[in-house]
Amino acid sequence: MENKVTINGLTFVPYLTHDKIMEQVKRVASEIRSDLGESSDPVFICVLNGAFIFAADLIREIGINDCKIAFVRYASYEGTSSTGHVRQLTGLTEDIAGKDIVIIEDIVDTGLTAVKMIDDLKKQNPRTVKFATLLHKPESSKTGFEPDYVAFSIPPKFILGYGLDLDGKARNLHDIYVIEE
Ligand code: IMP
Ligand code: MG
Repeated sequence: MENKVTINGLTFVPYLTHDKIMEQVKRVASEIRSDLGESSDPVFICVLNGAFIFAADLIREIGINDCKIAFVRYASYEGTSSTGHVRQLTGLTEDIAGKDIVIIEDIVDTGLTAVKMIDDLKKQNPRTVKFATLLHKPESSKTGFEPDYVAFSIPPKFILGYGLDLDGKARNLHDIYVIEE
């Protein structure tokens, strides 16, 4: 783990190590696996771009071979804060009617993206809808939205790494870093 990371002139310090992340990914994976049960052939919906690394680890840990993986893309952030305006950039191509779906997101901040996405996906009549997020900032909520599965609850500070970005950068980092105060 690097001591400091500087992106676009902002400095970030270590927050969650890759080992600690993987511990919680495994815990969430076993919760999802036992809730889905043996007979389910779920569709995992990865929210691009931020969730791609979490989703890759989580889906492999869940270990259900009879699953499909689909992608949607939403955007609401500019720089280090939410614009409050959520846009769908890429929709779903997979048929989810009658399916158990698990949405996989990197972080729930205001909850606006989550609420919009669930609303959009429910129109396609899935059997069940669950929401898994790597990170949750409950104090930033503007919606009261509660994810079904949370790896880490964190204070409302800007973080990056393990898929999360600052203006598209630093998603590659193995660990998660928080903005220096
Ligand atoms: P929400 O709609 O406000 O809940 O925002 C969710 C989206 O904002 C996430 O999918 C992220 O793309 C982005 N986001 C929120 N907080 C952070 C952060 O601390 N670092 C990087 N991206 C963030
Ligand atoms: Mg995102």
